Formats: sequence, C-alpha cells, structure tokens
Amino acid sequence: MKILVVGSGGREHAISWRLAKSGQVDEVICVPGNGGTINEAKCRNINPEDCDYAQGLAGNDAVAQVASFEQVDFAVIGPEDPLCAGIADQLWSVGIPTVGAKSAGAALEGSKDLAKAFMKKYGVAAAASESFTNQALAEEYIKKHGAPIVIKADGLAAGKGVVVAPTVEVALKAVKDFMQDGKLGEAGAKLVIEDYLQGVEISVLAAVSVTKELTQKGKSCIIPFVPARDHKRLNDGAKGPNTGGMGAVAPLSDVSDETMAQFNKDILEPTLKGLEAEGFDYRGFIFFGVMLCKDGPKLLEYNVRLGDPETQAVLPLMDFDFADLCKAIIDEKQTGALKDFSSNMKWKKGFVCAPVAVSGGYPNAYAKGKEITLKKGGENTKVFIAGGQQKNGKLVTSGGRVLAVSAFGSTFDEAFKTAYSAMADVSFDGMFYRKDIGLPGAAESGEL
Ligand code: AMP
Ligand code: GLY
Repeated sequence: MKILVVGSGGREHAISWRLAKSGQVDEVICVPGNGGTINEAKCRNINPEDCDYAQGLAGNDAVAQVASFEQVDFAVIGPEDPLCAGIADQLWSVGIPTVGAKSAGAALEGSKDLAKAFMKKYGVAAAASESFTNQALAEEYIKKHGAPIVIKADGLAAGKGVVVAPTVEVALKAVKDFMQDGKLGEAGAKLVIEDYLQGVEISVLAAVSVTKELTQKGKSCIIPFVPARDHKRLNDGAKGPNTGGMGAVAPLSDVSDETMAQFNKDILEPTLKGLEAEGFDYRGFIFFGVMLCKDGPKLLEYNVRLGDPETQAVLPLMDFDFADLCKAIIDEKQTGALKDFSSNMKWKKGFVCAPVAVSGGYPNAYAKGKEITLKKGGENTKVFIAGGQQKNGKLVTSGGRVLAVSAFGSTFDEAFKTAYSAMADVSFDGMFYRKDIGLPGAAESGEL
C-alpha cells in the first residue's frame, strides 16, 4: 500500500512513522514532510513546488495532484487548515479515500461559534457562552458578567485566539485587540465569550467513522484512545506564556475510569448523536479538549485532527496496526468497520513521556538554521522532528517547536527518566525544554 500523509510537523512525523511500521505499507508519501520524515524508513518527502506535474497549483489543489500522480491508496490529513478548506471533500471527489473530516464537520474546529452552537444543540457538557459580532454588546456583556471570563476568537488563529482574562480590563483589551484592532484578521471579527472553568485539563483523541449510511445501519461510532495531556505553558509548573505544546504524556494515572465513563456519557455520546443528526461525512480523527471540573468533565473545544504533541505520546502506545485503523475509519464498503475494529484496539501497558525541545526565544522571535545533533536512541525512545529540515545533509532547526523525545516505560517514572536521559543527548544552539512533563503540578489547570 502507498499512503499520503499531509503536513510537516511532529504529529505528521509520528503518523508517518507509525504507518511505515505496518507490514502492509510499502511507501508513505509525506507532503511536504520535514527533516524527520525524510530520514524515516519507507517515507518519501514530496514538495509539490518541486514537481513538474503540479506547477501553478497551490494548497489543496497541489496536494490532490500529488495524490493522483502517485496513485496512493489513501490519504491521512494531519493539520486542521487543509481540512477546514475542504481537502477531504476534494480527495474523495477524485477517488482518493481520506482519513479526515469533510469540510462541514471540520467547521467544528474552524468556527468556535458553530462548535458552541453544536454543543448546546446536542447537550454536550461545556461552559455557558454567548457569541458577539458587535463590540459594544460584547463589552457590555463582560462588564455585566464580571471576571474571570474567557474570550475566544471565532476563527482559526493558530492557538492565539483564546484569552483567559482574570480581570474585566484584560477581557476588554482582548475584545479591542480582536474586534477593533483586527489582531487576528477575520478570525477575530466574531467572538465567543465563555464562562471560566476551573479544573485540570486532558486531551482525548479519538477515531471517528460517521456517515449517513453508517448511521442508518446503527454503525456510526467514535472510539476514544487512551487519555493524554499536553503541557502548553513554556515553563515548569505550568507557568509562563502559552505555546503550541511543551510536551505530552499518556495515559493518565490521575484520571479514573469513572471520569472517563462520565466523559463518554456527557461529551462523547452527545457529540456522536450530533455528528449523526447533522448528516456529516466525518471519517477521521477528533480531539476533545476537556476540563475536569468539580462537577464533571466539560468540553473546552473540538479539534478535527489529532493533537500535537499528544500524538507523539499516544501513537507509540498502540498495540495494533495504525494502517488497519485508518482503513477501518475510511470503511469504503460502509459495513461498520471501525466499530468492528475497536475490539482490536489494544494499548501497550505502560506510559509515554514526550518532552518537546524548542528554539531559544520561542514563543516569541527565535533563530532558525541551527544544527541539531542527535544520538541514536534506545529501543524505547523515538525522536519526532517538528521544526527541523534537512539542509546540505545536515538536520537544522526551522521552527519554534523543534522536536519531541518520546520514551516508553512500564511505569511513568521509567518513561520520564528515559525521556530526559535521551533529551540530554540532543543538542542545538539555544535549545530549551521543560523538565517536569507529566509530574504532579505540571498540568494545565486553566489557572489565571
Ligand atoms: P481552546 O483553544 O478553546 O482549547 O483554549 C485554549 C486554552 O485556553 C485551553 O487549553 C485552556 O487552557 C484555556 N481555556 C479555554 N476555555 C477555557 C475556559 N472556559 N475556562 C478556563 N480556561 C479555558
Ligand atoms: N495540543 C493541543 C492541540 O493539538 O491543539
């Protein structure tokens, strides 16, 4: 089998690596891939700009051209932007089965207003909220409501669209930044203003196979993976500015089976009902960003893709063939393949700790082009490259989040020690990483 993976981050390196491990997979085409996938067995990077046959094409058109030219068996889409821009619709329309929601379902990440309306309509447990397109009305609402309060830009904002405001002043400034000063462009023209939730955050990644036909047969489903946790703040103890993710762990020993059962009942099941009732063709992944509050789990957001860096912690725990999972999600014959496959989804007994190394200065300005040196890790460690490119035979930094070191251990302590001892073997100029990924006190709590 030949599979296309779209994206260029650490998540896509992990997806490509995991697919390449399958005995059924002959080649993984990474579009455009990165300095990690280029060195991965069975993987080949293709940048459409370098292809004669894709000249003059951009974005999803260029990807579709590569997919057709390479005659791939199916595609797996990593990031949200191409999904929201309809890449799954486009690839299916040229006969390429695709793991990734079509655009109607992908709007659950593309518009926070739409996502909140969906949560309300289908009774998904979440914070109360109001949406605004009028600045004066938004300001009036905040003054009446008081702080703390959470301001969210409606559109895609690459992680910069949420302000958890401890005071009314901070909330009003966020409204001005987004609505009046257009700091996020169109993404900030509409706002969701949401009640502040206190608790501890978790990420639940899941496989989804929902179509009208499957729903008619009673076979649409969402199958959750083991719960994971991202650590978004820059510094130890969940302090400092927000980032794209400083490390992840899975599974979570502080999350009980009862909590997960409540998550299933209050969040996952109503979500499935909603996807079915809306008649979406949603065959891909979904990510539930969840706050564990005193009165139960509440949904913070949907993402229509796998999490980054959670994927780098969750995929190494899979004790099943990832290519089989993708085929079951696609379920070309619409027989209920994902539901059937779910009993095969066994997880390794143990933990993965995956700290992320970032470029000095990140999440603000940082240097690029610094040479990365790595040692070959042991059997239980794997380095996933995110912001790294191969240049003149050398691996050099090309982004803020440079790589994750994922380590497996039969206990969390073992995974933690293995990860940090492997991290000590990585170096590049300006390298920085948190030293507490997965420790008590390291978790995000939406703290002000
Ligand atoms: P989101 O993109 O909606 O997940 O928001 C980004 C981050 O903001 C989350 O990971 C939380 O840490 C925080 N956050 C979002 N919504 C809330 C809320 N209602 N209460 C407290 N913190 C929140
Ligand atoms: N780790 C959070 C995300 O992928 O959105």
